[in-house]
Amino acid sequence: MTAPDGDASPSAPAIEGRGLVKTFGPIRAVDGVDIALRPGRIYGLLGPNGSGKTTLIRLLVGLARPSAGEARLLGHRVPSREMLARVGYMTQADGIYPELSVWENVRFFAGLYGSFDRTRLVETLRVVDLADRLGTPALQLSGGMRRRLSLACALVHRPPILVLDEPTVGIDPALRVQFWRHFRALAAAGATLLVTSHVMDEADRCDELLFILAGRIFARGTSAELRQRAGSENLEEAFLRFSGDGGDVAQPIVSRGGAA
Ligand SMILES: Nc1ncnc2c1ncn2[C@@H]1O[C@H](COP(=O)(O)OP(=O)(O)O)[C@@H](O)[C@H]1O
Ligand SMILES: [Mg+2]
Repeated sequence: MTAPDGDASPSAPAIEGRGLVKTFGPIRAVDGVDIALRPGRIYGLLGPNGSGKTTLIRLLVGLARPSAGEARLLGHRVPSREMLARVGYMTQADGIYPELSVWENVRFFAGLYGSFDRTRLVETLRVVDLADRLGTPALQLSGGMRRRLSLACALVHRPPILVLDEPTVGIDPALRVQFWRHFRALAAAGATLLVTSHVMDEADRCDELLFILAGRIFARGTSAELRQRAGSENLEEAFLRFSGDGGDVAQPIVSRGGAA
């Protein structure tokens, strides 16, 4: 059943994809994905390089046009101008301006959504540990610092939906913990987070996991559920087993309530 456009009821999923397909010539980068992600939760989209994570999230936020199917944010079909201000999207390639300073970058992104507030900007830069670098041109930042600035630019307008493409690549362990603490606080305040990763070690911090391979989501559930169903304590092993690579447990599974 499809809601009319813009009919965002409180029970509507925050992020929704139905029958999503994206082809690039002969490649089916996304091959029939149905998901409905609820507010207040952190979802982990896990899969190896080239499995379709970035393409799927670009479809979900309305930055790529699906070959088939549709995506909705808060009940609004994307692309939607209105939804732009309600999504924070941290791209895999840092979407910041190298010639602008740290401060100018966050101010620019906040200004795009009409939410300039000096205190909020400084708070956001504290979360990513860049508050003492306000005047540094992005060009002069290390790779990890650029990732942190990129995250700040996605957070600065306090969007209810956050889509983060490999946000912790190149981030040191202590700051990674700080990031996740912040993500958890945002979810507790009602935000919906979709975080991609190709490493499994962050998966336990997510409320629910979606395993993707060759453009298809072939298993979903909590980390504990997936490990239990695979009969393995190791999530990487569970991934391989569900993907049909490591035995006979290739049955797709869905978490209780079919939330995702
Ligand atoms: N713009 C594009 N043109 C052609 N092929 C693409 C394009 N974007 C992605 N692909 C292909 O789609 C598949 C999925 O890529 P991607 O979504 O980037 O995977 P991931 O983010 O999981 O690494 C890959 O085979 C990739 O080469
Ligand atoms: Mg990617």
